[in-house]
Amino acid sequence: MENQYIIKGGKPLFGEVTISGAKNAALGILAAAIMTDETVLIDNLPDVRDINVLLQAIEGIGATVDRVDRHAVKINGSTIGDVTIDYDSIRKIRASYYLLGALLGKYNKAQVALPGGCDIGSRPIDQHLKGFRALGATVNIEYGMINTYADELTGNHIFLDVVSVGATINIMLAACMAEGRTVIENAAKEPHIVDVANFLNSMGANIKGAGTDKIRIRGVEKLHASEYSIIPDQIEAGTFMVAAAATKGNVLIKNVIPKHLEAISGKLIEIGARVEEFDDAVRVSADERLHHSQIKTSPYPGFPTDMQPQFATLLALSEGTSTVTESIFENRFKYVDELSRMGAAIKVEGNVAIIEGVEHFTGAAVSAPDLRAGAALVVAALVADGISTVDSIHYIERGYESFESKISALGASMEKIPIDDERAANKFRLKVG
Ligand code: UD1
Repeated sequence: MENQYIIKGGKPLFGEVTISGAKNAALGILAAAIMTDETVLIDNLPDVRDINVLLQAIEGIGATVDRVDRHAVKINGSTIGDVTIDYDSIRKIRASYYLLGALLGKYNKAQVALPGGCDIGSRPIDQHLKGFRALGATVNIEYGMINTYADELTGNHIFLDVVSVGATINIMLAACMAEGRTVIENAAKEPHIVDVANFLNSMGANIKGAGTDKIRIRGVEKLHASEYSIIPDQIEAGTFMVAAAATKGNVLIKNVIPKHLEAISGKLIEIGARVEEFDDAVRVSADERLHHSQIKTSPYPGFPTDMQPQFATLLALSEGTSTVTESIFENRFKYVDELSRMGAAIKVEGNVAIIEGVEHFTGAAVSAPDLRAGAALVVAALVADGISTVDSIHYIERGYESFESKISALGASMEKIPIDDERAANKFRLKVG
């Protein structure tokens, strides 16, 4: 039975929340973990759907996956008997294409279903394939599958035409055991790129420059066992920062790397919120209506596209006219119609949303169009007068661990209940008054 969130808005969020491990780093790291025949222990894994689906795909090709506890897993890639990832896995979790780079790098061959577009737009993977070809692999696309193989992978100088997180990680994976030296120019610089590189290095790879736009890789013979703890999730942290500011609350967000949050902190401060930084925490508070701003998404260290819907929601409640320009994905304003149903005044022209700030939202039944937009609708519901329901929360659960319990622990009235369960909905209404 599908669930929905039911939320009574209007309460400021107060207290402390602990951020989970970074989903997007974990996806790359889990794929990388199959590249050695020794056992790898990965900790601070977020317990979210995308990760669990990727672990199933990894088990599906024969690797041994041993869930030590909710946030730790042991993986052993010596038992892999298959190098094919089918469409079912790719459809559920696009990032299972990291297994293409990992399997190609380890076995010199891999077959992975070609991912389609997705809820945020068309998503080509030409740069991944260009990288594999540059390393000497043959890449064919037929019958919906990407077929890659090589006699031997050889390092090369690769210049990415677009800054791509996925291509940078996939090429790092394929290149780390290639013969000789690989240089990736115009590489993405996101914190999760650095985390995947650090993890590969902990297994014996020789990768330098991750976090800059030039990554240098010297191929090694083989990779070995490692124990590794994943970095905190920058976007989960950012979402709680926005929720604290939007509800005019005061929240200490723990287990974060403040440096990774600078683009978000900077914007919050600019529009009038308070952000205090500690070694591994940030405190966000606001007690007045915030101001308008201009935002344009761009690759790290720019403003992250994955924070665009949450921030647009905040600006929709702020004083004045704001603009939000989406420069990474073409179809990332699908939540605007849902937000309008709660009272937002937003007009989308091409890749720009023009936002006239309103004073209030009112509760409504809305549907999450994708992961981050779903989180934005939850933030909207936390602020709205009255009761809202958010359905299609399977999207949100792809990337937020225990979202409803983390938020209700901050004082909000929010529960997860089965859709169509009128009794549960009425019980919630009675409880919140
Ligand atoms: C990753 C994140 C996603 C985030 C995005 C941008 C993961 C699992 N997902 O997605 O949450 O929103 O980075 O920060 O880490 N492009 C091409 N050709 C390619 C590859 C990409 O043209 O071969 C384009 C894309 O269409 C997009 C841009 O490059 O316009 C950036 O995409 P990319 O950085 O690759 O995003 P993902 O890795 O898919």
